[in-house]
Amino acid sequence: MSEAKTTNIPADKLVRVTFMPEGKTVEFEFGTLPYDHHGKPMSFLDVAENFNIFLDHACGGSCACTTCHIWVKDGKEGISEADDDELDRLDMAADQQLNSRLGCQAVITKPGNYVVEIPKWNRNYTSEGKPLALAEKK
Ligand code: FES
Repeated sequence: MSEAKTTNIPADKLVRVTFMPEGKTVEFEFGTLPYDHHGKPMSFLDVAENFNIFLDHACGGSCACTTCHIWVKDGKEGISEADDDELDRLDMAADQQLNSRLGCQAVITKPGNYVVEIPKWNRNYTSEGKPLALAEKK
């Protein structure tokens, strides 16, 4: 008898999220992830926090900043629609793209594969809380 390679999650319940550019992939069974109290339950921020993946969230996931800005590369159809609050906030994000979302507001609504990218200025956010982009505009 052979063991499953990583998990024994039924394929029809599997959620697989890849965070780029690191390429870190996490897997879990849909509906079983404990809420980590960051952003909306099952948001990308919630997933990241559950798996110790750094996704900045200066406002604590309350749709009041843009530090959790992500670009959705794959899986858009399984993600909640952005509401007006999120869209208004996203208008303030640097380099907003058609696939831009706030990681704390974009919720995974069904099993499937998801790929999101964390923009580089968010990755470079320093521990002092100042974006490097302000210091070195490049
Ligand atoms: S963490 Fe502030 S808007 Fe998402």
